[in-house]
Amino acid sequence: MRMIEWRDGVVVTIDQTKLPHETVILKIKTIEEMAEAIKNLRIRGAPLLGAAAAFGLAITAFYSKAKSKEHLLAELESSANFLKSTRPTAVNLFWAADRILAKARGFSGSAEGLRELVIQEAQLIADEDAEANRAIGENGATLISDGDVILTHCNAGELATVEYGTALGVVRAAWNQGKKIRVIATETRPLLQGARLTAYELKRDGIPVTLITDNMVGYVMYKRLVNKVIVGADRIVQDAVINKIGTFTVAVLAHEHGVPFYVAAPKSTFDLTRKAAEVVIEERNPDEVTHFGAHRVAARDVEVLNPAFDITPLKYVTAIIHESGVYYQKDFAKFKK
Ligand code: MRU
Repeated sequence: MRMIEWRDGVVVTIDQTKLPHETVILKIKTIEEMAEAIKNLRIRGAPLLGAAAAFGLAITAFYSKAKSKEHLLAELESSANFLKSTRPTAVNLFWAADRILAKARGFSGSAEGLRELVIQEAQLIADEDAEANRAIGENGATLISDGDVILTHCNAGELATVEYGTALGVVRAAWNQGKKIRVIATETRPLLQGARLTAYELKRDGIPVTLITDNMVGYVMYKRLVNKVIVGADRIVQDAVINKIGTFTVAVLAHEHGVPFYVAAPKSTFDLTRKAAEVVIEERNPDEVTHFGAHRVAARDVEVLNPAFDITPLKYVTAIIHESGVYYQKDFAKFKK
Protein backbone atom coordinates (compact mmCIF):
# COMPACT_ATOMS: atom_id res chain seq x y z
CA MET A 1 0.00 0.00 0.00
CA ARG A 2 1.24 3.53 -0.81
CA MET A 3 1.48 5.71 2.29
CA ILE A 4 1.50 8.91 0.26
CA GLU A 5 0.02 9.62 -3.14
CA TRP A 6 -0.28 12.54 -5.53
CA ARG A 7 -3.81 12.77 -6.94
CA ASP A 8 -4.01 15.70 -9.31
CA GLY A 9 -3.15 18.52 -6.90
CA VAL A 10 -4.02 16.68 -3.69
CA VAL A 11 -1.54 14.78 -1.51
CA VAL A 12 -3.33 11.85 0.09
CA THR A 13 -1.88 10.19 3.19
CA ILE A 14 -2.87 8.80 6.61
CA ASP A 15 -2.83 10.90 9.78
CA GLN A 16 -0.39 8.83 11.85
CA THR A 17 -1.27 10.58 15.09
CA LYS A 18 -4.68 8.88 14.96
CA LEU A 19 -3.38 5.34 14.45
CA PRO A 20 -3.95 2.61 15.50
CA HIS A 21 -7.49 3.43 16.64
CA GLU A 22 -8.67 5.47 13.67
CA THR A 23 -7.62 5.57 10.03
CA VAL A 24 -8.06 9.21 9.12
CA ILE A 25 -7.19 10.15 5.54
CA LEU A 26 -5.49 13.52 5.09
CA LYS A 27 -6.00 15.43 1.86
CA ILE A 28 -3.32 18.07 1.69
CA LYS A 29 -3.65 20.94 -0.80
CA THR A 30 -1.48 23.73 0.62
CA ILE A 31 2.11 24.06 1.70
CA GLU A 32 0.90 25.26 5.12
CA GLU A 33 -1.13 22.06 5.60
CA MET A 34 1.90 20.00 4.57
CA ALA A 35 4.18 21.83 7.03
CA GLU A 36 1.63 21.43 9.83
CA ALA A 37 1.29 17.68 9.12
CA ILE A 38 5.08 17.22 9.23
CA LYS A 39 5.60 19.32 12.38
CA ASN A 40 2.90 17.47 14.27
CA LEU A 41 4.00 13.99 13.09
CA ARG A 42 0.83 13.29 11.13
CA ILE A 43 3.42 12.47 8.45
CA ARG A 44 6.62 11.05 9.93
CA GLY A 45 9.53 8.67 9.32
CA ALA A 46 12.56 9.83 7.36
CA PRO A 47 11.80 8.41 3.87
CA LEU A 48 8.16 9.49 4.07
CA LEU A 49 9.30 12.99 5.04
CA GLY A 50 11.36 13.05 1.84
CA ALA A 51 8.33 12.17 -0.29
CA ALA A 52 6.19 14.65 1.66
CA ALA A 53 8.65 17.48 0.98
CA ALA A 54 8.74 16.52 -2.70
CA PHE A 55 4.94 16.52 -2.96
CA GLY A 56 4.82 19.77 -0.96
CA LEU A 57 6.84 21.39 -3.76
CA ALA A 58 4.54 19.71 -6.29
CA ILE A 59 1.63 21.49 -4.57
CA THR A 60 3.43 24.83 -4.93
CA ALA A 61 4.04 24.15 -8.62
CA PHE A 62 0.51 22.90 -9.28
CA TYR A 63 -1.32 25.89 -7.76
CA SER A 64 1.19 28.59 -8.75
CA LYS A 65 -0.07 31.46 -10.88
CA ALA A 66 3.50 32.39 -11.87
CA LYS A 67 3.80 33.43 -15.51
CA SER A 68 7.58 33.10 -15.69
CA LYS A 69 9.93 30.27 -14.85
CA GLU A 70 11.96 32.65 -12.62
CA HIS A 71 8.89 33.59 -10.60
CA LEU A 72 7.90 29.93 -10.11
CA LEU A 73 11.46 29.08 -9.09
CA ALA A 74 11.34 31.82 -6.43
CA GLU A 75 8.08 30.37 -5.10
CA LEU A 76 9.59 26.87 -5.00
CA GLU A 77 12.62 28.17 -3.10
CA SER A 78 10.40 29.86 -0.56
CA SER A 79 8.27 26.69 -0.10
CA ALA A 80 11.43 24.56 0.24
CA ASN A 81 12.74 26.87 2.99
CA PHE A 82 9.39 26.72 4.75
CA LEU A 83 9.33 22.91 4.65
CA LYS A 84 12.95 22.72 5.81
CA SER A 85 12.00 24.75 8.91
CA THR A 86 9.56 22.04 10.11
CA ARG A 87 11.88 19.31 11.40
CA PRO A 88 15.68 19.57 11.31
CA THR A 89 17.04 16.05 11.73
CA ALA A 90 15.82 13.63 9.03
CA VAL A 91 17.98 14.50 6.04
CA ASN A 92 15.54 12.95 3.55
CA LEU A 93 13.34 16.05 3.74
CA PHE A 94 16.30 18.31 2.80
CA TRP A 95 17.55 15.82 0.22
CA ALA A 96 14.21 15.69 -1.63
CA ALA A 97 13.63 19.46 -1.54
CA ASP A 98 17.18 20.13 -2.78
CA ARG A 99 16.89 17.49 -5.51
CA ILE A 100 13.78 19.20 -6.88
CA LEU A 101 15.31 22.68 -6.58
CA ALA A 102 18.45 21.54 -8.44
CA LYS A 103 16.29 20.17 -11.28
CA ALA A 104 14.23 23.37 -11.34
CA ARG A 105 17.30 25.62 -11.42
CA GLY A 106 18.74 23.66 -14.35
CA PHE A 107 15.50 23.88 -16.37
CA SER A 108 15.40 26.25 -19.30
CA GLY A 109 11.79 25.97 -20.57
CA SER A 110 8.55 27.76 -19.68
CA ALA A 111 6.77 28.12 -16.32
CA GLU A 112 4.30 25.49 -17.52
CA GLY A 113 7.15 23.11 -18.36
CA LEU A 114 8.72 23.69 -14.94
CA ARG A 115 5.39 22.96 -13.25
CA GLU A 116 5.25 19.56 -14.94
CA LEU A 117 8.90 18.84 -14.24
CA VAL A 118 8.48 19.42 -10.48
CA ILE A 119 5.42 17.18 -10.27
CA GLN A 120 7.19 14.45 -12.25
CA GLU A 121 10.31 14.65 -10.11
CA ALA A 122 8.24 14.43 -6.90
CA GLN A 123 6.50 11.34 -8.24
CA LEU A 124 9.88 9.86 -9.20
CA ILE A 125 11.23 10.45 -5.67
CA ALA A 126 8.21 8.57 -4.25
CA ASP A 127 8.52 5.71 -6.75
CA GLU A 128 12.26 5.37 -6.11
CA ASP A 129 11.63 5.12 -2.36
CA ALA A 130 9.13 2.29 -2.84
CA GLU A 131 11.62 0.48 -5.08
CA ALA A 132 14.58 1.07 -2.72
CA ASN A 133 12.67 -0.37 0.23
CA ARG A 134 11.91 -3.59 -1.60
CA ALA A 135 15.61 -3.91 -2.50
CA ILE A 136 16.57 -3.19 1.14
CA GLY A 137 14.12 -5.93 2.14
CA GLU A 138 15.67 -8.46 -0.22
CA ASN A 139 19.25 -7.55 0.77
CA GLY A 140 18.43 -7.58 4.47
CA ALA A 141 16.53 -10.87 4.33
CA THR A 142 19.82 -12.63 3.49
CA LEU A 143 20.89 -11.82 7.07
CA ILE A 144 17.79 -13.32 8.66
CA SER A 145 17.44 -16.99 9.61
CA ASP A 146 14.54 -19.19 10.58
CA GLY A 147 13.84 -18.75 14.27
CA ASP A 148 15.29 -15.25 14.60
CA VAL A 149 13.83 -12.85 17.11
CA ILE A 150 14.42 -9.33 15.85
CA LEU A 151 14.22 -6.28 18.05
CA THR A 152 13.26 -2.99 16.43
CA HIS A 153 12.92 0.51 17.84
CA CYS A 154 10.46 3.23 16.76
CA ASN A 155 8.69 2.62 13.45
CA ALA A 156 10.75 2.06 10.33
CA GLY A 157 7.92 0.32 8.56
CA GLU A 158 5.57 0.93 5.69
CA LEU A 159 4.11 3.84 7.66
CA ALA A 160 7.49 5.59 7.74
CA THR A 161 8.13 5.22 4.02
CA VAL A 162 6.28 5.45 0.71
CA GLU A 163 5.81 1.69 0.76
CA TYR A 164 7.09 -1.49 2.44
CA GLY A 165 9.40 -0.01 5.09
CA THR A 166 13.14 -0.18 5.73
CA ALA A 167 13.82 -2.13 8.95
CA LEU A 168 10.35 -3.67 8.75
CA GLY A 169 10.87 -4.14 5.01
CA VAL A 170 13.64 -6.58 5.94
CA VAL A 171 11.30 -8.32 8.40
CA ARG A 172 8.53 -8.38 5.76
CA ALA A 173 10.82 -9.83 3.07
CA ALA A 174 12.15 -12.56 5.39
CA TRP A 175 8.60 -13.40 6.50
CA ASN A 176 7.40 -13.55 2.90
CA GLN A 177 10.25 -15.98 2.17
CA GLY A 178 8.68 -18.28 4.74
CA LYS A 179 11.20 -17.68 7.56
CA LYS A 180 9.62 -18.22 10.95
CA ILE A 181 10.62 -15.05 12.74
CA ARG A 182 9.30 -12.88 15.54
CA VAL A 183 9.69 -9.22 16.33
CA ILE A 184 10.14 -7.47 19.64
CA ALA A 185 8.99 -3.86 19.32
CA THR A 186 9.95 -1.21 21.83
CA GLU A 187 7.12 1.18 22.69
CA THR A 188 9.37 4.19 21.89
CA ARG A 189 8.77 6.90 24.44
CA PRO A 190 7.64 9.61 24.35
CA LEU A 191 5.43 9.43 21.25
CA LEU A 192 5.01 5.64 21.17
CA GLN A 193 5.70 4.99 17.48
CA GLY A 194 6.56 1.40 18.41
CA ALA A 195 3.42 0.69 20.44
CA ARG A 196 1.08 2.56 18.13
CA LEU A 197 2.57 2.03 14.68
CA THR A 198 5.04 -0.90 14.58
CA ALA A 199 2.78 -3.15 16.65
CA TYR A 200 -0.22 -2.16 14.50
CA GLU A 201 1.57 -2.70 11.20
CA LEU A 202 2.96 -6.12 12.14
CA LYS A 203 -0.27 -7.35 13.73
CA ARG A 204 -2.17 -6.27 10.61
CA ASP A 205 0.22 -8.29 8.44
CA GLY A 206 0.13 -11.33 10.71
CA ILE A 207 3.83 -11.11 11.67
CA PRO A 208 4.32 -12.17 15.32
CA VAL A 209 5.21 -9.18 17.49
CA THR A 210 5.75 -8.67 21.21
CA LEU A 211 5.67 -5.19 22.71
CA ILE A 212 8.06 -4.10 25.46
CA THR A 213 8.78 -0.76 27.10
CA ASP A 214 12.08 0.87 26.17
CA ASN A 215 13.64 0.14 29.54
CA MET A 216 13.15 -3.63 29.10
CA VAL A 217 15.74 -3.90 26.31
CA GLY A 218 18.57 -4.78 28.70
CA TYR A 219 16.50 -7.54 30.28
CA VAL A 220 15.48 -9.17 26.98
CA MET A 221 19.09 -9.14 25.79
CA TYR A 222 20.42 -10.51 29.07
CA LYS A 223 17.83 -13.28 28.86
CA ARG A 224 18.82 -13.98 25.22
CA LEU A 225 15.24 -13.36 24.10
CA VAL A 226 16.46 -11.49 21.03
CA ASN A 227 19.24 -12.34 18.57
CA LYS A 228 19.21 -9.46 16.06
CA VAL A 229 18.40 -5.77 16.08
CA ILE A 230 17.25 -3.86 12.99
CA VAL A 231 16.40 -0.17 13.09
CA GLY A 232 15.95 2.60 10.53
CA ALA A 233 17.76 5.93 10.42
CA ASP A 234 16.99 9.61 10.07
CA ARG A 235 20.47 10.54 8.92
CA ILE A 236 23.67 8.57 8.40
CA VAL A 237 26.73 10.78 8.68
CA GLN A 238 30.48 10.12 8.42
CA ASP A 239 30.79 8.89 11.99
CA ALA A 240 27.34 7.87 13.18
CA VAL A 241 23.75 6.83 12.66
CA ILE A 242 21.18 9.32 13.89
CA ASN A 243 17.82 7.76 14.71
CA LYS A 244 14.94 7.90 17.19
CA ILE A 245 15.90 8.67 20.78
CA GLY A 246 16.75 5.41 22.51
CA THR A 247 18.49 3.83 19.52
CA PHE A 248 21.93 4.45 21.03
CA THR A 249 20.94 2.65 24.24
CA VAL A 250 19.74 -0.35 22.20
CA ALA A 251 23.01 -0.35 20.20
CA VAL A 252 25.24 -0.31 23.29
CA LEU A 253 23.22 -3.12 24.87
CA ALA A 254 23.42 -5.13 21.64
CA HIS A 255 27.20 -4.61 21.57
CA GLU A 256 27.52 -5.72 25.19
CA HIS A 257 25.53 -8.90 24.51
CA GLY A 258 27.07 -9.77 21.12
CA VAL A 259 23.77 -9.19 19.30
CA PRO A 260 24.21 -7.91 15.71
CA PHE A 261 22.90 -4.36 15.30
CA TYR A 262 21.72 -3.58 11.75
CA VAL A 263 20.58 -0.27 10.29
CA ALA A 264 18.37 -0.33 7.20
CA ALA A 265 18.29 2.88 5.15
CA PRO A 266 18.06 4.09 1.54
CA LYS A 267 20.41 6.55 -0.19
CA SER A 268 18.13 9.49 0.71
CA THR A 269 19.11 9.00 4.39
CA PHE A 270 22.86 9.39 3.80
CA ASP A 271 24.56 12.73 4.52
CA LEU A 272 28.24 11.93 4.20
CA THR A 273 29.23 15.62 3.99
CA ARG A 274 28.74 15.95 7.75
CA LYS A 275 29.76 14.53 11.11
CA ALA A 276 27.20 13.97 13.88
CA ALA A 277 28.33 17.05 15.81
CA GLU A 278 27.18 19.24 12.91
CA VAL A 279 23.61 17.90 12.85
CA VAL A 280 20.74 19.65 14.61
CA ILE A 281 18.94 17.20 16.88
CA GLU A 282 15.29 18.16 17.09
CA GLU A 283 14.19 19.20 20.57
CA ARG A 284 10.44 18.78 20.97
CA ASN A 285 7.76 20.14 23.27
CA PRO A 286 8.28 19.18 26.96
CA ASP A 287 4.59 18.26 27.15
CA GLU A 288 5.40 15.08 25.23
CA VAL A 289 7.45 13.94 28.25
CA THR A 290 5.32 15.33 31.06
CA HIS A 291 2.04 13.98 29.64
CA PHE A 292 0.55 10.67 28.55
CA GLY A 293 -1.82 11.87 25.86
CA ALA A 294 -3.77 14.73 27.39
CA HIS A 295 -3.06 13.54 30.94
CA ARG A 296 -0.22 15.13 32.89
CA VAL A 297 1.88 12.61 34.83
CA ALA A 298 4.98 14.62 35.74
CA ALA A 299 5.39 16.85 38.77
CA ARG A 300 4.45 20.47 38.11
CA ASP A 301 7.16 22.80 36.81
CA VAL A 302 9.80 20.08 36.45
CA GLU A 303 12.51 20.87 33.92
CA VAL A 304 12.39 18.57 30.89
CA LEU A 305 14.80 17.48 28.14
CA ASN A 306 13.11 16.10 25.03
CA PRO A 307 15.53 15.36 22.17
CA ALA A 308 13.71 13.40 19.44
CA PHE A 309 16.83 11.59 18.18
CA ASP A 310 20.17 10.30 19.40
CA ILE A 311 23.54 9.50 17.92
CA THR A 312 24.95 5.98 17.59
CA PRO A 313 28.66 5.95 16.69
CA LEU A 314 29.39 3.62 13.75
CA LYS A 315 31.50 1.33 15.95
CA TYR A 316 28.23 -0.09 17.33
CA VAL A 317 26.77 -0.81 13.88
CA THR A 318 27.32 -4.33 12.55
CA ALA A 319 26.12 -3.45 9.04
CA ILE A 320 24.02 -0.99 7.08
CA ILE A 321 21.43 -2.54 4.79
CA HIS A 322 21.06 -0.39 1.68
CA GLU A 323 19.24 -0.84 -1.62
CA SER A 324 22.57 -1.54 -3.30
CA GLY A 325 23.83 -4.12 -0.80
CA VAL A 326 24.97 -4.69 2.77
CA TYR A 327 27.82 -2.50 4.09
CA TYR A 328 30.05 -3.68 6.92
CA GLN A 329 32.62 -1.97 9.16
CA LYS A 330 35.31 -2.26 6.47
CA ASP A 331 33.06 -0.28 4.08
CA PHE A 332 32.32 2.48 6.61
CA ALA A 333 35.85 3.84 6.13
CA LYS A 334 34.68 5.07 2.71
CA PHE A 335 32.11 7.30 4.44
CA LYS A 336 34.93 9.60 5.60
CA LYS A 337 36.03 11.51 2.55
O1 MRU B 1 10.01 11.25 14.96
P1 MRU B 1 9.77 10.22 13.90
O2 MRU B 1 8.62 9.32 14.20
O3 MRU B 1 9.67 10.84 12.53
O4 MRU B 1 11.08 9.34 13.93
C1 MRU B 1 11.21 8.29 13.03
C2 MRU B 1 12.40 7.44 13.25
O5 MRU B 1 13.24 7.72 14.06
C3 MRU B 1 12.58 6.27 12.32
O6 MRU B 1 13.27 5.24 12.95
C4 MRU B 1 13.40 6.73 11.10
O7 MRU B 1 12.83 7.87 10.52
C5 MRU B 1 13.54 5.66 10.09
S1 MRU B 1 12.01 5.38 9.23
C6 MRU B 1 12.29 4.30 7.96
